[in-house]
Amino acid sequence: MGTVVTTLEAASKALAIAPQRGPCRRVLMASPAHFTVESAINPWMQDDSGALNHVDTVRAAEQWNSLRAAYERIAIRVEVIAAPVGLPDFCFAANQSVALPGKVVISRMATEGRQREVPYFEHWYRAHGFEPIPVPRNIERFEGTGDAIAHPGKSLFWGGVGPRTAAGAWEFFSSAVDVDVIPLKLVDERFYHLDTCLCLLDNYSALYVPAAFDDASRGLIESAFSRLHAVSDADAANFACNAHCPDGRHVLIQQGSAQTVAWVKQAGFVPIELDTSEFMKSGGSVFCLKQELP
Ligand code: ARG
Repeated sequence: MGTVVTTLEAASKALAIAPQRGPCRRVLMASPAHFTVESAINPWMQDDSGALNHVDTVRAAEQWNSLRAAYERIAIRVEVIAAPVGLPDFCFAANQSVALPGKVVISRMATEGRQREVPYFEHWYRAHGFEPIPVPRNIERFEGTGDAIAHPGKSLFWGGVGPRTAAGAWEFFSSAVDVDVIPLKLVDERFYHLDTCLCLLDNYSALYVPAAFDDASRGLIESAFSRLHAVSDADAANFACNAHCPDGRHVLIQQGSAQTVAWVKQAGFVPIELDTSEFMKSGGSVFCLKQELP
């Protein structure tokens, strides 16, 4: 049975004994057809005067298509779920679920508006052979792979605890899907999902925003990864940590994070720089726009 791991010693043991997990060969992306910014549910969605960001829908579609093509070029198959009208954040397919072999944990979104996205995803998963596992009622919020980040190559998760996912969600998740989880406490509202401040590249390598975590959580990350890059403030605000390394080699990342990209290259990875600027107006980039499928 999976457990929630909180000490350095227990985390290193959990990592050492975690079962192997195969590479990502397939992702689910959600159509950006009705993507817009209608209300600010995170700090990135409005400008300094408090006005909501304006999305250019044509550019958003182009950027989304380029991301899809980038996955296909590196031999990752892309499945697409159609978007219903009236759900402006639907395209962020990381958040409504965590897909696992044969089953899928269905999120409880922190906001009522986004909760309405969830049944469409549940329907898609059922139709594609996944058995849905609902989050029990007493867990007030759980936002899928926005906060559940799988350790590369291993059946173990790092779990964000913050504005979108409650601490108690990890007790449920670890026992429901029989996997160990190392929770990490998020302390800066700009980094509201774990995928905005931690990007795992391989078993040894990761990008992180040190100030986004409390001391104990930062210590857990620093002891688990021997090649760690502390992302600069500028690159963090450019969503450098919302990159995705699906295969242990290519790193799909928002363009313009020169320092981070230089580090990624010298660490032996191949960066693929993309423009996700329209989605950043809603507080998301590459990692948020897909769900890894087993
Ligand atoms: N506007 C969306 C929200 O605030 C963006 C979600 C981005 N997703 C992510 N995994 N960080 O919910």
